[in-house]
Amino acid sequence: MSGASPGAAWQRPEIVSVFLRERRTVMPLLDVQEDLVRRLLVRHPHPMTRFLDLGAGDGAMSELVLSLKPRAEAVLVDFSEPMLEGAERRLASGRARWQAVRGDLSDPAWRSGLPAGGYGAAVSAFAIHHLPAARKRALFTELLALLEPGAMFLNMDYVAIEGPLRGLWDEQMLANAVRAEHERGGSRSPEEVERELFDDREDDRPDSVEDQVRWLRAAGFEQVEVHFKWAEAAIFAAVKPARGER
Ligand SMILES: C[S@@+](CC[C@H](N)C(=O)[O-])C[C@H]1O[C@@H](n2cnc3c(N)ncnc32)[C@H](O)[C@@H]1O
Repeated sequence: MSGASPGAAWQRPEIVSVFLRERRTVMPLLDVQEDLVRRLLVRHPHPMTRFLDLGAGDGAMSELVLSLKPRAEAVLVDFSEPMLEGAERRLASGRARWQAVRGDLSDPAWRSGLPAGGYGAAVSAFAIHHLPAARKRALFTELLALLEPGAMFLNMDYVAIEGPLRGLWDEQMLANAVRAEHERGGSRSPEEVERELFDDREDDRPDSVEDQVRWLRAAGFEQVEVHFKWAEAAIFAAVKPARGER
C-alpha cells in the first residue's frame, strides 16, 4: 500500500463488493446509529438545500439525508469508481438530486471539483478514519470554510479507543458475518469470513473521538458533541458559528 493514498484499498472492486453486500448485516447497531443521525438532522434548525457526503461510497448516508430533506441535493465525494458505480444503482430513482465529485480527501485539492457556493450540511460515514491525523485536522478546517454559517458537520465513524472494549466493534462485526454466512447456507470457516471481512484493515487510521472533538473546536466549530459511542463506533457533530457569533 506504500505510495498509495490513504483509503486506496477502497478502489479495489473485491473490497467494495464485500462491503456493499455485508454493510447492513454486519455493522453493529447500524439501525440505532442511523436513527440518531436522522434525529440530529431533523432537530438541527439550519435549512439545507445542498449537502456534502464525504467518502460517500455507494451513497447510503446521502440516501438517508435525501429522504429527510426533500428539497436538498447531495454532492457525493469519493475516489472509488466501484463505489460510485454503486451510487448510480442505489440512488438511481433520484438521479436529478445528486452529483458525484471524484476527489481524494487526503489532498486539499479535493475541493477543486466541488460546485461553488456554501453547503447547508456535511455528513460522512465510516470514511474519515482512513485519513492520517494531520489530514483529519486540516479537513475539519476546510469543511468550516465550505459550510454556511449555522450548518452542521456530522460524522459517523470508526474511532480509536483504549480499555477493555478495545476490539469489540471488530469482534461483533465478525460474529454478525459468521452468523450471516450460516444463515445463507455458506460453508466458509470463521477464519475465511474474517480474512475477507478485514481485508481493508491495513488502511485504517482511527483517532480517538476526544482528539477529533478537540480538533473541531480548534478549527472554529461550536456545539461540538459526541452523540453516540459504542466501543469503536462514534457519532459526533459540530456546527459552524452563525454569522456574528465569532
Ligand atoms: C467504509 S466505506 C464507507 C462508504 C459509505 N460512506 C458508507 O457508509 O457506506 C469508506 C469510503 O471512503 C472512501 N474513501 C476512503 N479514503 C478516501 C480518500 N482518501 N478520498 C476519498 N474517498 C475516500 C472510500 O472510497 C469508501 O467509499
